[in-house]
Amino acid sequence: MDVFHIEGPVQLNGSVRINGSKNASLPTMAAAILAAGKSTLKSVPNLSDISVFGELLSSLGCTIERNDSGDLSIDSSVIENTVGEYEIVSRMRAGICILGPLLARCGKVSVSMPGGCAIGDRPVDIHIRGLRQLGAKIHLENGYIVAEAPHGLKGDDIFLGGPFGSTVLGTANVLMAATLAKGKTTIESAACEPEISDLANCLNKMGAKISGIGSPRLIIEGVKQLHPVEFEVGPDRIEAGTFMAAAAVTSGELKLENCRLEEMMAVVDKLRSIGVTVEAANGGCVVTRNGLVKPSDFTTQPYPGFPTDLQAQFMVLLSLAKGNSVVTEKIFPDRFMHVAELNRMAANLRKEGPVVIIAGVKKLIAAPVMASDLRASAALVLAGLAAKGTTVIQRVYHIDRGYEKIEKRLNAVGAKIIRKSG
Ligand code: EPZ
Repeated sequence: MDVFHIEGPVQLNGSVRINGSKNASLPTMAAAILAAGKSTLKSVPNLSDISVFGELLSSLGCTIERNDSGDLSIDSSVIENTVGEYEIVSRMRAGICILGPLLARCGKVSVSMPGGCAIGDRPVDIHIRGLRQLGAKIHLENGYIVAEAPHGLKGDDIFLGGPFGSTVLGTANVLMAATLAKGKTTIESAACEPEISDLANCLNKMGAKISGIGSPRLIIEGVKQLHPVEFEVGPDRIEAGTFMAAAAVTSGELKLENCRLEEMMAVVDKLRSIGVTVEAANGGCVVTRNGLVKPSDFTTQPYPGFPTDLQAQFMVLLSLAKGNSVVTEKIFPDRFMHVAELNRMAANLRKEGPVVIIAGVKKLIAAPVMASDLRASAALVLAGLAAKGTTVIQRVYHIDRGYEKIEKRLNAVGAKIIRKSG
């Protein structure tokens, strides 16, 4: 297992290009199942989560290829298996989003029920409820969700809200299934995340009839069939937010290319309010920190609120603010594995239920730490850039799931990170 050795403190300066979005790519790859033939996706990042998802699609009978320019093609002409095996789905929870498209195309599907993960309980009851409303018969068997709709799916009015707001992959599943259902489906309380808009735009390009894209009410007129597509996924707003936090944590200046500020207003607003400058520049932005960071509060929320996927990284930034801050996690109330590790680096964080109280410190100090999940590990990297000494991060495979060549890209703008094979 690889380990990072991070020498700090450093100041980051320079330019970084933001990759295509992981969380838009995954459901869009699943959408290729809906139309027999070869679809091509552009700007899909080269990440271990994407490879595992490719493995899952291959296990169903699809052929996956990457060409020299990095485009990913998925040939779904033949689906010979409708079972998403535990061995693969247990490695990546997004595997659940083959449920809707396989059901719509083949009339049956079994997918291993994803377990919990490092960020807490992750139920799929709303996915199941939504697909049942489209007419699927669903039961659990040996840890698998078994769904059948031998006579096809039928449109309905479906409310997809849950205890913590909308569900991103639940919306993806029901949306994909509804494109081939008979009649009209209305999804109320649909997730509004840009990744869902990307998926919906891709589906429309495949011949689906979806309106209300980007809003909490999606209206889908079912069609008889979809056709393969060529589609480019949008930039990764979470990767962009992580690099913004990196510029701020290191008192540096980063120019981010290929970044949509309009999809990041909650993040940009937070940065500006604590004293970090964010200026739009040519399809991207420049993030600069001069002077001290002010303390602040934020609560994670569904889009367009502050994203849970940036909570850990912004906690590092507020750890270095002059004063006390409060972070409340409203999407995954247990998503705080980074708190104890950051305290090992001399942060002063106190967790009380879904809330963390941060007493700002003057500096962080390097320590050996353990990555636990994707975004928690990104936070530890940021802390390592700011901390005095050599921070050693174990289990960096977590970060490889969601950030392509992170150490090379950070080193190109002034970081000193060495990857060692452990
Ligand atoms: C997506 O997960 C993302 N994953 C997550 O990104 C992200 O943290 C999350 O959305 C929230 O933005 C992908 O897109 C691949 P949810 P998802 O269903 O769809 C509850 C990352 O770091 N809920 O929107 O699985 C759930 O427990 C990751 O890149 C139910 O109660 O999340 C949570 O509290 C990790 N029942 C809330 O809804 C359900 O059936 C939102 O979860 C489904 C969800």
